[in-house]
Amino acid sequence: IRRIAVFTSGGDAPGMNAALRAVVRTAAWNKLHVYGIERGFEGMIDGHFKRMERRDVANIIQRGGTVLRTARSKRFMTPEGRAQAAEHLRSYDIDACIAIGGNGTFTGAKVFSEEHNIPFIGIPGTIDNDLFGTDYTIGFDTAVNTAIDAVDKIRDTADSHNRLFLVEVMGRNSGFIALHTAIGSGASSVLIPEAETNLEDLKNVLKKNKARGKLFSVVIVAEGHPMGGAAGIAERIQDELASMEPKVTVIGHLQRGGAPTALDRLLASRLGHAAVNKLMDGEENVAVGIVNSLITTYSFDDAIHREKKPESALITMASILAI
Ligand code: F6P
Repeated sequence: IRRIAVFTSGGDAPGMNAALRAVVRTAAWNKLHVYGIERGFEGMIDGHFKRMERRDVANIIQRGGTVLRTARSKRFMTPEGRAQAAEHLRSYDIDACIAIGGNGTFTGAKVFSEEHNIPFIGIPGTIDNDLFGTDYTIGFDTAVNTAIDAVDKIRDTADSHNRLFLVEVMGRNSGFIALHTAIGSGASSVLIPEAETNLEDLKNVLKKNKARGKLFSVVIVAEGHPMGGAAGIAERIQDELASMEPKVTVIGHLQRGGAPTALDRLLASRLGHAAVNKLMDGEENVAVGIVNSLITTYSFDDAIHREKKPESALITMASILAI
């Protein structure tokens, strides 16, 4: 392997820049030439490649977003789009690619590498933490910290007015951000797609809390909750709990931005470094991950198709600690 390309794709995640920096510097240290592709698969189709040397990734470890920018590419879902992308990779003499992203990115990488015989290594970067094969994905810790910070602020006003807040956090179909935010912010309850929601129980808990002198409540709701996120839950409970003046707050894309936490910088640096090492060891079409603090690899198929769920012990703990 002499020349590699690297890109970020799908939703951005804090720490993607730290991963890019680790890829470029580990590659440079091993005398590989690196090309950065702008806007993920879109840039691959349009030929937006730029040579990246070790100084090109200076002063980015602390920055959120992605300096390579990103996109969710519809054109890459077509064989024509992928053929055009393959042509560009060949014209730059690229031997292998490193893709930083989530589920959609790994799906695109898998289809493309099989179709055009170009080795790929994936680096899991998504705030959702919903990829099988790694304990944590890049950006998750920062997103949870941002959400906890927001809930801390909401607590102040909830407390002042004795109100009930339903706070919606991101996560697509997954409840990791919600569960970790709920535990870390000491929320009264958490509603996630992976656990059944009994609205009668929720209403009873909130009423009982109030009767026992609890002045306010915060409930964290995952955006992918089947009852329609925080707004859907509010609609179903607001009449019965009108005295608590239920309010809905959607934190939204705030969770995607900001400087990565120390944990995310470290994770991204380790995964970026490992991705280049694995490529040089001859591994291909796998993603790197971290399990019990050790670097590991797993197939794109596993990453995409096997389900990763929050531990049920954590879900139970969250409700015990909220009594
Ligand atoms: O995958 C990351 C994520 O932020 C999800 O939590 C969310 O559902 C989705 O992306 C939002 O995507 P977009 O920014 O394209 O609206």
